[in-house]
Amino acid sequence: MGSSNVRITINGKIYEESIDQRMLLVDFIRERAGLTGTHVGCDTTNCGACTVHLDGRPVKSCTVLAVQADGKSVLTVEGLSRGEKLHPLQQAFLDKNGLQCGYCTSGMIMTALWLLKKNPGATREEIREALSGNICRCTGYSSIVDSIQQASGMSKDQAEEEEMVTRNPQAWR
Ligand code: FES
Ligand code: FES
Repeated sequence: MGSSNVRITINGKIYEESIDQRMLLVDFIRERAGLTGTHVGCDTTNCGACTVHLDGRPVKSCTVLAVQADGKSVLTVEGLSRGEKLHPLQQAFLDKNGLQCGYCTSGMIMTALWLLKKNPGATREEIREALSGNICRCTGYSSIVDSIQQASGMSKDQAEEEEMVTRNPQAWR
């Protein structure tokens, strides 16, 4: 395999790079864009620590080649805060102690973001089901579910902003 030129938008910023065609999206995000909030926790596509949104849908970025993201838009955990203001999900994880080591947290938050967009009033059971592809070795999950439930009380204005950031992450800044 050779190299390819790709143009990938991450959190509203365009990255044009020549890359090895075998490069994984997670490596592009971490190494080319320097966004290290997206983690690699396994080599079996099981842990979900690498979860980002690709054109608005959650993907495990260790299972996607960077060339598959060419021309597409990626949202990572770094794209959620607005200046100094944390996203409600980030704030909720802080408030409810939804993390210990934090290794799984960005993936949890990106999965939860998707869930709350689709199902803003998700029950504890639905939250647990949605998180089935995300592994946490520290918390026992209860505090993570508590955090997501707190964030599910987002106001209508907040939800509208959520839609806006999905369409245009730059607007969140
Ligand atoms: S690093 Fe992608 S699923 Fe574990
Ligand atoms: S907080 Fe440590 S793996 Fe989840």
